[in-house]
Amino acid sequence: MNHAASPHIPVLLDAVLDALRVADRAGGQYVDGTLGAGGHAAAILSAVPNARLLGLDRDPAALALARERLAPFGDRATIRHTSYEQIGDAVAAWSGSETAAVDGILLDLGISSMQVDDPARGFAFMHEGPLDMRFDPSSGGLTAADIVNTWQAEDIADVLFRYGEERHSRRIARAIVAARPLSTTRQLAEVIAAAQRGPRQKIHPATRSFQALRIAVNDELGAVERVLPAAIDCLQPGGRLAVISFHSLEDRIVKQTLKDEATDCICPPRQPVCTCDHRARVTLVTRKPLQADAAEIAANPRSRSARLRVVERL
Ligand SMILES: C[S@@+](CC[C@H](N)C(=O)[O-])C[C@H]1O[C@@H](n2cnc3c(N)ncnc32)[C@H](O)[C@@H]1O
Repeated sequence: MNHAASPHIPVLLDAVLDALRVADRAGGQYVDGTLGAGGHAAAILSAVPNARLLGLDRDPAALALARERLAPFGDRATIRHTSYEQIGDAVAAWSGSETAAVDGILLDLGISSMQVDDPARGFAFMHEGPLDMRFDPSSGGLTAADIVNTWQAEDIADVLFRYGEERHSRRIARAIVAARPLSTTRQLAEVIAAAQRGPRQKIHPATRSFQALRIAVNDELGAVERVLPAAIDCLQPGGRLAVISFHSLEDRIVKQTLKDEATDCICPPRQPVCTCDHRARVTLVTRKPLQADAAEIAANPRSRSARLRVVERL
């Protein structure tokens, strides 16, 4: 892995530590569902002297870096190779209890700098690499190559439109099918760029399509929908969930799900009598998402699109 080139800088670090109220604590149980290189996790463990932390990630390469980073904390840090969707089982096994007992959970969604910068992972159109894009290459699951080389044009267009909000989705999908077989990221990026006419855009013409393929390969939006209620299940009363998202599709799901979780009745507004029996499980700590300030954006341009939302278990 080519991680030496750009180590991942944890985004909104102070805001996350505030959100999880680490300054008030001397101990407690924390879960980092997206451990990555362990930047946020190390900061939580440093700030709370007797805290224990469970870190999860789908990416074995990220876990190897986190293991090194968290070694100084000894058995206060536990690392598991699993999807955050399995947070309930992972927490039960770690805490030895079925009852919700976690004080703080962080989900820093999406991709890390190390993953983007490693050509072998196939996430970046700027590097030559295989069309992979799996967060967990050991999973044997769907790859970007499977999508571009075997799916029908309409299904590819659907992915590009839904997950990349790509206006030229149909034209790009037809060009991809015509160019088969595709085996590398550069080849794909060139096909995508050539399929788009019109004025030069501010971003590379393959940006949206690469984002869309990555989301589809990893079922990222489905995973976010599933993890939020499962994470809230794990929190003890007063425990907090902090979620950082990096694009509007993700943030929309986080915003709506957390709003529903903070609302007693979620029946359609015109329905005269409640039939949903839904009860709020959390309060919203942030009504508007927290964002990086100018200094953080200057130091870490990746933080520009980060949005942090926080809820507290009732
Ligand atoms: C933005 S990075 C996290 C960086 C981390 N907060 C740090 O400070 O180094 C996101 C991480 O989430 C992981 N990830 C993505 N989907 C996941 C899932 N469903 N379950 C667990 N980890 C996931 C990625 O592999 C990546 O390492």
